[in-house]
Amino acid sequence: MGDGALSELNLILLGPPGSGKGTQGERLQADFRLPYFATGDILRAAVRDGTDLGRQAKEYMERGDLVPDDVIIGMIAERVESPEAADGFILDGFPRTTAQAEALDEEMGRLEKRLTAAILIDVSDDEVIRRLSGRRTCEKEGHIFHVEFEPPKEEGVCDVCGGRLVVRDDDKPEVVRNRLEQYHTKTEPLVSYYEGEGILRRVDGHQEPEDVSGRIRALLATLQMEEQA
Ligand code: AP5
Repeated sequence: MGDGALSELNLILLGPPGSGKGTQGERLQADFRLPYFATGDILRAAVRDGTDLGRQAKEYMERGDLVPDDVIIGMIAERVESPEAADGFILDGFPRTTAQAEALDEEMGRLEKRLTAAILIDVSDDEVIRRLSGRRTCEKEGHIFHVEFEPPKEEGVCDVCGGRLVVRDDDKPEVVRNRLEQYHTKTEPLVSYYEGEGILRRVDGHQEPEDVSGRIRALLATLQMEEQA
């Protein structure tokens, strides 16, 4: 579908580390049955598998720095133009720099598609720190929990697939501080970038996960109604 109709949802999830992009991405993926491309998950799998991509990304990720644009841009372009993404997609963790956003615009132009919305999940730095210090991630499939806010039924075990729950290497406090700094200097400028394109939609990420999902569903329904009017 290349006419940009809204039935094709091409979504970006934007927000600081720990704002809930992965949590909401998982729900959106289930609601809309769209392919979900999370750069962090793709990179962590590459590091685990010891691929070339993983070797290039590892040291940046361990420090909480961004992986260079040229490594990331090709990786996402490949997915956006794949048949799997023909009827829409959800991007989590991309773009993260102005150069990445420009490359995505170029790719969308080439495919005669357009972005539907960049959804900013807005959360304060203090909340980020609280969330990341209690996050537990499923080693097998990446499902996300929190010891206090979204505890698994059985400690240390994923409710969904039974995988082991672990603390991510980059959730150490000193790395989280750097990730936040990277966000504010390199990624936050994308808020005005997408405001300028008229597709930025803000959601208060401090509410309960279910309320955040409800808000995102409502805003997507509004966009759909506006499109049909
Ligand atoms: P990535 O994996 O993308 O990390 P991130 O953006 O820092 O985001 P997180 O996965 O940490 O958090 P999230 O927003 O998904 O929150 P979550 O839902 O888990 O990237 C990792 C690294 O890869 C980067 O540092 C960089 O090196 C590299 N990289 C990735 N993309 C790149 C790119 N494009 N360019 C260059 N480098 C790139 O939630 C967090 C916790 O809070 C969980 O425990 C959850 O249960 C809980 N929670 C969620 N929502 C709520 C809520 N509403 N209330 C209470 N608790 C909640």
